[in-house]
Amino acid sequence: MTVITNINDLKRLHKRRTPKMFYDYCESGSWTEQTFRENVSDFDQIRLRQRVAVDMEGRSTATKMIGQDVAMPVALAPVGLTGMQRADGEIKAAKAAEKFGVPFTLSTMSICSIEDVAEHTSKPFWFQLYVMRDQDFLKNIIQRAKDAGVSALVLTLDLQILGQRHKDLKNGLSAPPKLTPPVIADLATKWGWGLEMLQTKRRSFGNIVGHAKNVDDPSSLFKWTAEQFDPRLDWGKIEAIKEMWGGPLILKGVMEPEDAIMAAKVGCDAIVVSNHGGRQLDGALSSIRALPPILDAVGDQVEVHIDSGIRSGQDVLKAMAMGAKGTYIGRAFVHGLGAMGEAGVTKALEVIHKEMDISMALCGRKHIEDVDRDILRVPEDFAGRWA
Ligand code: GLV
Repeated sequence: MTVITNINDLKRLHKRRTPKMFYDYCESGSWTEQTFRENVSDFDQIRLRQRVAVDMEGRSTATKMIGQDVAMPVALAPVGLTGMQRADGEIKAAKAAEKFGVPFTLSTMSICSIEDVAEHTSKPFWFQLYVMRDQDFLKNIIQRAKDAGVSALVLTLDLQILGQRHKDLKNGLSAPPKLTPPVIADLATKWGWGLEMLQTKRRSFGNIVGHAKNVDDPSSLFKWTAEQFDPRLDWGKIEAIKEMWGGPLILKGVMEPEDAIMAAKVGCDAIVVSNHGGRQLDGALSSIRALPPILDAVGDQVEVHIDSGIRSGQDVLKAMAMGAKGTYIGRAFVHGLGAMGEAGVTKALEVIHKEMDISMALCGRKHIEDVDRDILRVPEDFAGRWA
């Protein structure tokens, strides 16, 4: 049995066990992938201050995100097609998150539906919404989320149009996969994946198929995002959705202070500083660089969370020390799922928790809530001198 010590170990197993098309979908950014790379490398620019002779007993990483108790400030991010990484992937990830005590966010573009996940979990989860042109679909999916007991709506603001990911186009990404000769050759080496997939009926977009009208080819992410997503999304529509939903609201995809100020004005429980894992606007700053000016602008009015680039507990610690009130992992948990199913997601959470807990202690802090900028060394021009 392989000894798993970090997220990279899970990533290697994920790659070995999962069809190339889905591994690549997870592990790619848009166009040149500059933002995708810098999301990770910019975390490395920040250093931690080692403190000594501080009592380390009785530590805790527990805190709250939007008023909800969390075992650590790490939610599972919404990730499309999670149920293609592993059969029933969203159900497995949601179960692992529930047992660990962190929020699970179901993507609109999931394979398992809202109802599927609700049926297999016992605590409320979060639901990520894309705004669709079809008003009936939109009203209906918000109602479905309410009926399933969803405890926060995460509205994604940065994907009215899909950024181009070259690997997905070259691989002919679809759910379920179309059985072309290269796909068949690849699947022949991923038989464990295939056997599990044959045993589930969840192999297409569970929230969409049977619910949305006029979808030409529901298996193609590219086609139906182009057909269905509402390119006219604006702050007025965001307010309307807030009204329709009426519950805790998180606005995801904010990268600039002006937009953070608008989000705070609309009124939400949190914003997520996010460039969609480098999958949308290539050339955008990394999210960790974008965080400080946003905190300056709205940090006293709204909870500021961050995703994109978090692959370790040290990254979580750095983001929290910079002033974030919560973080999200996407690829890190998907690597766990692709590697070992539910147990792999649990492993990813354990790895991150341990890294965060021990690093926090070595920085001389016992509680994640006491972690602040004082534990960091940040390069003087980290925010960059951009004209
Ligand atoms: C969807 O959310 C994607 O980034 O593919």
